[in-house]
Amino acid sequence: MIVVEKKQELKEYLAAERQQGKHIGLVPTMGALHAGHLSLVKRCVEENEVCVVSVFVNPTQFNDKHDLETYPRTLEADCALLEAAGCAYVFAPSVEEMYPEPDTRQFHLGPVAEVMEGPRRPGHFNGVAQVVSKLFYIVEPDKAYFGEKDFQQIAVVREMVRQLELPVEIVACPIQREADGLALSSRNVRLTPEQRKEAPLIAHTLQESLALAKKETVEEVKRFVCDALNANPVMEVEYFEIVDGHTMQPIADWKETDYPVGCITVYCGEVRLIDNIKY
Ligand code: PAF
Repeated sequence: MIVVEKKQELKEYLAAERQQGKHIGLVPTMGALHAGHLSLVKRCVEENEVCVVSVFVNPTQFNDKHDLETYPRTLEADCALLEAAGCAYVFAPSVEEMYPEPDTRQFHLGPVAEVMEGPRRPGHFNGVAQVVSKLFYIVEPDKAYFGEKDFQQIAVVREMVRQLELPVEIVACPIQREADGLALSSRNVRLTPEQRKEAPLIAHTLQESLALAKKETVEEVKRFVCDALNANPVMEVEYFEIVDGHTMQPIADWKETDYPVGCITVYCGEVRLIDNIKY
């Protein structure tokens, strides 16, 4: 495994791989890797002769300075995991390398970015589109792998790829969970032991709501989920929307889509956790 900090160097390595007819897969990450990331790497290694993993805490997608400053940075441990997982190249650039000058691009990502996380994290999806498009220009991957925990992010990346006409296939990979159901996330380590004990209630409640879906109205299912979680003293639902999984637009009636997905963000104490379920 080769760790590269400079984009020109990575481009040269990958041009040589491509010359030999090899396919290149990319897993974009912000490091602090856990089993969720490793499931993406595994899939990337299985489907491509060359697996590239980027490790870069992207400042342009953080709208909270404190969150950016305290984001865990564990490159050495990440590299050990990636080597064992069969990754060929780790791309770990500095901020100056990725942004030699400020990225002033404004993406107009349309309705997929205007709901749920969009208005609640102003600039976040624009920052994601900036960094992922840069990574796609540098790596020119055949396929790129994203986890479905960030369900809306995948729709945003697909829209960016569509607008820029980039020749990359976006592969969505299932959420990985702890044995008790909690969706894996780099933020889970910030939970206190008490909050960690309660956090699986999110996944359990979503799972329970499966039985109600399509029998009860959309409104009733939403109420069931919000009430069950808000009844817990350490939880506060920020939003729970049932959306068309293709367009991210909230639905009012099950008949509006063949792909209903419930997307939730819950504060568990100070920690913002997200999860989703396909109905
Ligand atoms: O999902 C993430 O970790 C980040 O948003 C991504 C896709 C690596 C871009 O910085």
